[in-house]
Amino acid sequence: MFDLYQLSDEHLAIREAVREVCDAKVAPNAAEADENSEFPQASFDALRASDFHAPHIPEEYGGAGADALATAIVIEEVARACASSSLIPAVNKLGTMPLLLSGSADLKRRYLPRVASGEGMFSYCLSEPEAGSDAAAMTTRAIYDNGHYVLNGVKRWITNAGVSDFYTVFAVTEPGIGAKGISAFVVEKSDPGVSFGAPEKKLGIKGSPTREVYLDQVRIPADRMIGEPGTGFASAMRTLDHTRVTIAAQAVGIAQGALDAALAYVKERKQFGKPIADFQGVQFMLADMGMRLTAARELTYAAAARSERGDADLTYFGAAAKCFASDVAMAITTDAVQLLGGYGYTKDFPLERMMRDAKITQIYEGTNQVQRIVMARQLLKGVI
Ligand code: CAA
Repeated sequence: MFDLYQLSDEHLAIREAVREVCDAKVAPNAAEADENSEFPQASFDALRASDFHAPHIPEEYGGAGADALATAIVIEEVARACASSSLIPAVNKLGTMPLLLSGSADLKRRYLPRVASGEGMFSYCLSEPEAGSDAAAMTTRAIYDNGHYVLNGVKRWITNAGVSDFYTVFAVTEPGIGAKGISAFVVEKSDPGVSFGAPEKKLGIKGSPTREVYLDQVRIPADRMIGEPGTGFASAMRTLDHTRVTIAAQAVGIAQGALDAALAYVKERKQFGKPIADFQGVQFMLADMGMRLTAARELTYAAAARSERGDADLTYFGAAAKCFASDVAMAITTDAVQLLGGYGYTKDFPLERMMRDAKITQIYEGTNQVQRIVMARQLLKGVI
């Protein structure tokens, strides 16, 4: 009769199942993927074998049909083991969300089963060298020509570029009218004229390739447009409303991984004749880390529930969860490094990697400054 405000047995079972896979088959590859800046193929294979590589794809397209909360839990658990690997389910959701929200039945039928089966991943191409926070300032152009569109431009900071087979590309179809002149398309890696830049040399998430995507006279059938002409920017923003929740989940997972490692260490490490966990100064740090993490997780799950229901306040909740959880992940991973002292600063422990990985969650899918713009606009509109 009453909502008891707790995870369902199904959600708890999903967490247990993903954790088992990640402890056994994802965590062991994390340090190497980071060290060599290599896509963790073995982790991808393990996630695909257990259907956690794109859990959000609905059952009608051959997917696992996980709801937004279950998908967040999957991403959180993968991130606890390896942040780079968590971008596999996260970016598959990001890339396909415009299709799910606005694609034609035919386009969904053509592409979603291939992501569900693991045949290909889907990346999201919004940003450009001169259009980051100001996404509507993009210049990539799509010109209609006899039943086709011809795309030209450069997309930058594209997660999993080169590894993914499919790309949602946002491009200007009607110049001079800003956001209303942008449309979305499905582009395939194999389309003639598609190529990739060198992998970016990044601070963290090194196992997830980030590259430029070059579109040089890429001619695609007009039925690859997602939704109506001019609706691309709104689709991009609606997508981010949903997927900022997944970045919040990623941040929660990274923070949990760091807290787990710090808790294990402070119980073992002895100084001044006793485990450092016995010192109140250390306990206060642990308490703050736990408290912040709990709050971030609750906000993330509340946002995931709104994503699943499509509530009007999702825009606010998605931004709030992403902003809060990523700031928490940065603080917790930094404190975890501090608790391990000199050891935390070395690659003998995973904390320095987690701290570097946490940083990106404050930047991508909209900087935390952009999240505050989004939240403030919603507050001023009276949506909250
Ligand atoms: N839902 C539906 N429509 C929306 C919307 C939303 N959440 N947000 C905006 N729109 C619509 C608006 O209604 C408006 O249309 P109308 O004029 O008809 O009302 C139109 O889009 C333009 O909106 P704004 O005027 O608000 O646009 P803006 O230019 O002021 O930009 C912004 C707003 C919030 C700053 C936006 O540009 C933004 O979010 N920037 C950050 C971009 C971003 O997050 N990039 C991340 C890249 S992806 C990534 O990082 C992935 C990865 O690697 C993992």
